[in-house]
Amino acid sequence: MKDKKLYIKSFGCQMNKLDAGLVTAAFEEDGYSITDTEDNADVVLFNTCSVRANAENRVHSRIGYIGHLKKTRPHMVLGIIGCMAQRLGEEFLKDTAVDIVCGPSQIPDLLGMVNDVISERKKIVSVCADVREKPDATISETLDEFEYAFDSSKDQKTNQAFVRVMRGCNNFCSYCIVPFVRGPEVSRKPQQIFDQCKKLVDEGAKQITLLGQTVNSYEYSAGEKTYRLPDLLEMLSEIDSLKWLRFITSYPNLNHDEDLFKAMGELDKVCPYLHMPAQSGSDRILKAMNRHYSAQQYLDQLAVARSYVPDIAIAGDFIVGFPGETDEDFEATVELVKKANYKNIFAFKYSPRPGTKTDKKLEDNIPEEIKKLRNNELLKVQEQISAEYNKRYEGKILEVLVEGPSKKAHLNKAQNANNPQLIARTATDHIVVFNGPESLAGNFAQVEIEKTMPLTLFGNLV
Ligand code: SAH
Ligand code: SF4
Ligand code: F3S
Repeated sequence: MKDKKLYIKSFGCQMNKLDAGLVTAAFEEDGYSITDTEDNADVVLFNTCSVRANAENRVHSRIGYIGHLKKTRPHMVLGIIGCMAQRLGEEFLKDTAVDIVCGPSQIPDLLGMVNDVISERKKIVSVCADVREKPDATISETLDEFEYAFDSSKDQKTNQAFVRVMRGCNNFCSYCIVPFVRGPEVSRKPQQIFDQCKKLVDEGAKQITLLGQTVNSYEYSAGEKTYRLPDLLEMLSEIDSLKWLRFITSYPNLNHDEDLFKAMGELDKVCPYLHMPAQSGSDRILKAMNRHYSAQQYLDQLAVARSYVPDIAIAGDFIVGFPGETDEDFEATVELVKKANYKNIFAFKYSPRPGTKTDKKLEDNIPEEIKKLRNNELLKVQEQISAEYNKRYEGKILEVLVEGPSKKAHLNKAQNANNPQLIARTATDHIVVFNGPESLAGNFAQVEIEKTMPLTLFGNLV
């Protein structure tokens, strides 16, 4: 096939987007061009997420659309990759539009699968038979090599890159599907992470975000030495042209995090930003969620973080409407949000995930209406806190890394009105909007903040 076109869409987290980047680069190397619509694609890949039912539902409806397209484009190949592929496996083939089901650990073989489907018009399912089995060394090595070879995650325009430091999760929060689709925790070799970061920086990356489901539990033993996240941060700080270093997401680790916060305070390149979900402020619910801390211990953690990094911006995730969540439980969550003084939060309505402990044991008994109300209330409480929090930046000059033109026009009547509105981020991950030349994309700039809103800071280029 000449001039083959690939359409790929990610439905999940940064980890999922990183996988999509690797796959895209592998297909490009094979001669594919990327198209931004399914309508003219030869190969369509949906990189799926299973974390909540609505993420899965979106995929099912998009598959329906491909089925419709295939009536007039029968040569089209549809591959389902990612977490939902691992979760559902064979089951996906019930939908006749699907040609390939490929789990997150099998993506290095994906191009070969597509070729086989094209030449033999067969269906292929390739997922881990037992996802909780520790992957043997060859699988991990193949994934590492694939990662190194096709890490094009440095976005050409923004000069930001993402590097995975570990795969999987061992935490088994009782509501969560991730351990069942991404397998056990495996930390990558520090030297390999360093080499990959170095390569990306040589290619122009100015910011690197290290990725792991529980990135602060990174641990790699080599001989006598055990490398943890602070060691990695220290190593990577040595890369000259790298300016900003971040990591997501952290799970409150009462034993080890103090070292991490200390390193954050000492290493200039590490951004003062921490994404550390609490999930709930009720000890009873935290216990049912199998989160290994109390609300007070969590708040104490934040205090320790702030003692080493005074200007640290903290983001949190919450689940509302967990089975049995009473008004009192929810109030405790509101209280925690008020005390934590977050920069921002993400709030999710509990979604039962098949096979998880919560789903097996507890009935999803909080009505959708109540979940919605609690979700909105929590966001409203945080909105006020963010509004207040952001005032500290008014009149300040902040360094930002510019991402590019803003997709939607903001209510900003600042100077340089003949220039487009640009979106940028501070080291604390605040979104900054200002007018400036498009050529600033991917570069650092200084912006004087004029006005602040709960989610956005507005200013003028200095
Ligand atoms: N590994 C990360 C986040 C993984 S999923 C961490 O532990 O922080 C991202 C967020 O989705 C979680 O923080 C949680 O708030 C939410 N989430 C996970 N499972 C969920 C479920 N079954 N229903 C609703 N929200 C869920
Ligand atoms: Fe899911 Fe918990 Fe692991 Fe995060 S730490 S991915 S919420 S099991
Ligand atoms: Fe990410 Fe969703 Fe999988 S959150 S790890 S893509 S289940």
